Amino acid sequence: MERTALYELAAEAATKSYSPYSRFRVGAALLCADGSVVCAANVENRSYGLAICAERSAFVSAIAQGKTEFAELVIATPDSDYPVSPCGACRQFISEFVGADFPIRFGCSRDSYVDSTMGELFPHDALHELKDRAD
Ligand code: THU
Repeated sequence: MERTALYELAAEAATKSYSPYSRFRVGAALLCADGSVVCAANVENRSYGLAICAERSAFVSAIAQGKTEFAELVIATPDSDYPVSPCGACRQFISEFVGADFPIRFGCSRDSYVDSTMGELFPHDALHELKDRAD
């Protein structure tokens, strides 16, 4: 699937965001290796620290559906006027499931985006020796 189409799915997912506190909607579209796409949005809580980011939620949902291999991730932040990259917690979380060359696009519109990779966003893979135990 083309990344522009994935962006549209991520933007559509952002419309489902539950973000009454930040008023910052985020959507994510995760293309799995089997060709399926898992979408998610950020979900906040009145206990602010419990907010769950869109991209982390997409991975949780995909893993729970039995997906194990992933092709690319596109994140849409329609409420910003610049592309917003994944937070530090999400970088750590996503690195559990993908390699350094995994493509990640983040954009605030279909024409304003950054194409990056897991390795660029999370260059010094924390705790990789623990990950080796899981393999
Ligand atoms: N958020 C995401 O869902 N993904 C990001 O990459 C950046 C931040 C959410 C968390 C919170 O609900 C809102 O955006 C403001 O931080």
